[in-house]
Amino acid sequence: MSLLDVKNVKKIYTTRFGGNQVEALKNVSFSVEPREYVAIMGESGSGKTTLLNILASLDKPTSGKVYLKGNDMAKVKEKELAAFRRQNLGFVFQDFNLLDTFSLKDNIFLPLVLSGKKYEEMEKKLAPIAERLGIKSLLDKFPYEVSGGQKQRAAVARAIITKPQLILADEPTGALDSRAADELMNLFSVINNDGQTILMVTHSVKAASNAKRVLFIKDGEVFHQLYRGNLTNEQMYQKIADTLTVLTTGGERGE
Ligand SMILES: Nc1ncnc2c1ncn2[C@@H]1O[C@H](COP(=O)(O)OP(=O)(O)OP(=O)(O)O)[C@@H](O)[C@H]1O
Ligand SMILES: [Mg+2]
Repeated sequence: MSLLDVKNVKKIYTTRFGGNQVEALKNVSFSVEPREYVAIMGESGSGKTTLLNILASLDKPTSGKVYLKGNDMAKVKEKELAAFRRQNLGFVFQDFNLLDTFSLKDNIFLPLVLSGKKYEEMEKKLAPIAERLGIKSLLDKFPYEVSGGQKQRAAVARAIITKPQLILADEPTGALDSRAADELMNLFSVINNDGQTILMVTHSVKAASNAKRVLFIKDGEVFHQLYRGNLTNEQMYQKIADTLTVLTTGGERGE
């Protein structure tokens, strides 16, 4: 069974005054198997965040279905949704979504606190992650006291600390310098090799070249897919760059 099944998802936003409608997703279908590492690319405004929000059940599609481990997300009851999300999903949002009145550590602990874990257990889980992400000395600081890249790393720590089956990340390297971005991508590869599935939206060809598959979204549809196969990161980089050129200069829809 696929971990995630997205079937004919369409999203139309209606503006506040009811006048204009924006078709953010026209017809998106794809599946993600357990242990996959998938990058999603597409121009700004192509619907990537909209798609992630729907997959995270933070927003509902106008039509179409999302199945997580065979569960129709539309049928999960509202009061069970938060627990369902917590058990299965980890998120890294484009704007981090850290709580300003919580220290980084308390932000990272949040999903564990919500599922009733003991403090010592939380500390034990955090230690290796904080070490790896280079935020050990920052854990008692508040989000407004640290840089964008550091906030982003705390957001990543929060997403992975529960070891969720599926990690959804929106532009996780967006606020990082190239070294920190490389480190984060190494960490994602390690997590993926450990068995966690990753779905990552990114503008960065370099970041995407770490993934095992890249989906390209254009005009609210999956325009093309690239599979890594046996390619090295460098070869994957070149293939992605070539595909993006076709994508931005027009060209026929491929499979
Ligand atoms: N809440 C909303 N109400 C109305 N329109 C919206 C809303 N959110 C997004 N849109 C529109 O839907 C389209 C897709 O937006 P989305 O945020 O999904 O793009 P994106 O691919 O994530 O872009 P970026 O790469 O800049 O983050 C855009 O045209 C955007 O203006
Ligand atoms: Mg976005």
